[in-house]
Amino acid sequence: MDGAPHLRPLTILGVTGSIGRQTLEVAATLRIPVAGIAAGRGSDELLGIAHALGGAAVVVANPTPAEAVHFSEALGPRVGFGQEALLAMAAAPGTIVVNGIVGSAGLEPTVAALDAGNRVALANKESLVAGGPVVVAAATRGRGEIIPVDSEHSALWQCLVGETAASVRRLVLTASGGPFRGRTQSDLENVTVAQALAHPTWTMGPRITIDSATLMNKAFEVIEAHYLYAVPYERIDVVVHPQSVVHSLVEFVDGTLKAELGDPDMRVPIQYAITYPDRSTGHLPPFDLGGRTLVFEPPDRALFPCLDLGYRAGRDGGSSPAVLNAADEIAVAAFLNERIPFRAIPDVVAGTLDRIPPVGVSTVAEVIAADREARWIAADLVDAIAPGARN
Ligand SMILES: NC(=O)c1ccc[n+]([C@@H]2O[C@H](COP(=O)([O-])OP(=O)(O)OC[C@H]3O[C@@H](n4cnc5c(N)ncnc54)[C@H](OP(=O)(O)O)[C@@H]3O)[C@@H](O)[C@H]2O)c1
Repeated sequence: MDGAPHLRPLTILGVTGSIGRQTLEVAATLRIPVAGIAAGRGSDELLGIAHALGGAAVVVANPTPAEAVHFSEALGPRVGFGQEALLAMAAAPGTIVVNGIVGSAGLEPTVAALDAGNRVALANKESLVAGGPVVVAAATRGRGEIIPVDSEHSALWQCLVGETAASVRRLVLTASGGPFRGRTQSDLENVTVAQALAHPTWTMGPRITIDSATLMNKAFEVIEAHYLYAVPYERIDVVVHPQSVVHSLVEFVDGTLKAELGDPDMRVPIQYAITYPDRSTGHLPPFDLGGRTLVFEPPDRALFPCLDLGYRAGRDGGSSPAVLNAADEIAVAAFLNERIPFRAIPDVVAGTLDRIPPVGVSTVAEVIAADREARWIAADLVDAIAPGARN
């Protein structure tokens, strides 16, 4: 089908990021109006996008005082500041909210959008990882929809269209394996930030790129899949597939496997989350099947312990996935700032999980409390490895 079947305007949260910028491209291709945009800082890039979009409302979530003055002068009443303005934007009725915010700051806008009955095209991993039960409850309460943007969950979603829950034997998430696939423990001793940021198949923001190198990203995706599809952890598997052409698979009880394939390009699942249940013409050329070799292999769980830390936190449930996420956020920031080595990232996460027993979470406030406690403990663990100024 050509053109955009759903013309609900878009709200793009995290518009200056990798997902946000690609969403702007999709909006331009589909000719969908953009009603609102938000980012963390009052950057020149955000101002440039605001000018280019004309009338869209703008939110700067964490401006410096100087940025707030500058943006007010430049944009007048169409700019708002802070968390309240961000949540009001997410809750604007009748919109599709693309959540491309990085980190646990994405949770509250997801809940606000779902409570308002909006569709959330969800890229922000931390919403479901940290706040799975809270997000699922908000979707039920507000009758909002969550359509996944992440390529793996979009693949699962597409494989599950028209199927029943009882017919699913297992979900299989594919992982590229990241830049260190096939390496040894000693190879990982002196990994540099630049090496860890060099993802073989996807171009993404820094945190998710490091999480891909540790396989923590896949651990998060296992937890997200559990909440999105209500499938228990023992029926969610991970397979390494370095070509990133098969984006994930579903195995059914009769032995049939369905997979979704395509060249790795986030604009495709972003567009699908916006147009679902319809499809619109995309920008990719026809897929060339000639000469392709697709490889599948088990993940190296000893070399990449973050994967099993994710299963552990998921099975523990309650606050544990929020602790996992927050500890990882601190550990990744410390690695990016060259304070701890790459191999210490799982140590910081495991140490934080060991110190915080799981408790039930049913509100955003409870998730935030678990997140805060985990950040403190993870930061202490980082300090123990690398004494000196905190991140
Ligand atoms: N990139 C991908 O291909 C991909 C694929 C699947 C899933 N995801 C997930 O999508 C999310 C975004 O990833 P990304 O790679 O696009 O990240 P990114 O490039 O680092 O961009 C993050 C965006 O979030 C904004 N932001 C940060 N804190 C904010 C706050 N408190 N309020 C509002 N906006 C805030 C940033 O604004 P400033 O620029 O002002 O800081 C920026 O626009 C992550 O959860 C990631 O795991 C990404």
